[in-house]
Amino acid sequence: MKSRYDAAKNVFVDSIDIDDYIELNTSVAAYKQLEHSINKPLKMILLFGKPGTGKSILLNRIQEKLKHKKEIYYFDTPSINEKEFFHKLFKVLTKKDLPQNTEVNFSTLVDFCKNLRGKREIIILLDEAQMYGAEMMEKIRLLSDTRAVKFIVSLHKTEDEDLIAKEHFQSRIWEVIELKNATKEDQTTYIHKKLLKKNLFEIANSIKDKDMKLIHQFTKGNFRECNKLMFTIFEIYEYYDQNEPAEINYGALSKKIVEMAALKLGYIDV
Ligand SMILES: Nc1ncnc2c1ncn2[C@@H]1O[C@H](COP(=O)(O)OP(=O)(O)OP(=O)(O)O)[C@@H](O)[C@H]1O
Ligand SMILES: [Mg+2]
Repeated sequence: MKSRYDAAKNVFVDSIDIDDYIELNTSVAAYKQLEHSINKPLKMILLFGKPGTGKSILLNRIQEKLKHKKEIYYFDTPSINEKEFFHKLFKVLTKKDLPQNTEVNFSTLVDFCKNLRGKREIIILLDEAQMYGAEMMEKIRLLSDTRAVKFIVSLHKTEDEDLIAKEHFQSRIWEVIELKNATKEDQTTYIHKKLLKKNLFEIANSIKDKDMKLIHQFTKGNFRECNKLMFTIFEIYEYYDQNEPAEINYGALSKKIVEMAALKLGYIDV
């Protein structure tokens, strides 16, 4: 028989499933800010934050919410080359497929956009934009200058790099939204709601405030790290449940198991 911890474990598989979106204080604030920026006559919006802070899920959420009101498209992983990117863009703008073996001429695309001004407003959500080169970014900027296409550019912030300081993002065409790691309160809501959505009430209730504090300490409130830690915790539970059930207290999360998981993931040293 499958352990109940198998279901709990799978709750924390890292994925972007819009049905699993949870309204947290910080994500709601970022969502509102993003929606507000989209409604302003701005050209470029920068959404940034460390890996695992929820940028992709937020972009998906906004697309889901606005798609009936606006022309909004989500571009996930950057195209391998410029040619492919402009093909994709061409399709979105013209609603037609490009004939085979033809290339999009950039200045024609710009002219096309100029003609759209005032008639259509197209919003493109560009995820993982740290992968686009400087030249591509410049072209994207030129397209947004036509005011027919608005780009929401999402990228990671790395530890040692202050993106905002980069020349590129200094100009006033940019509006900046930053996503941060979750507070302990938001992370607690996240963990509880994720489990409750799958009807895992008993397991959700077994995680008390002191456990949440420890989990927050280990993961620093990063959603991806939190998923990894919770997954590993329940993986260990699953093992005990199937092999040594007498070892488990079903009513309270074991600090020892949380620490074992943290050890396994390298949050603590032996
Ligand atoms: N508000 C939320 N509701 C539900 N799940 C969330 C929420 N915020 C983050 N997550 C989950 O946390 C994980 C990390 O989020 P996401 O992939 O969006 O981060 P990211 O900032 O795009 O990371 P990267 O920079 O590495 O692409 C995902 O599994 C996502 O589903
Ligand atoms: Mg992402």
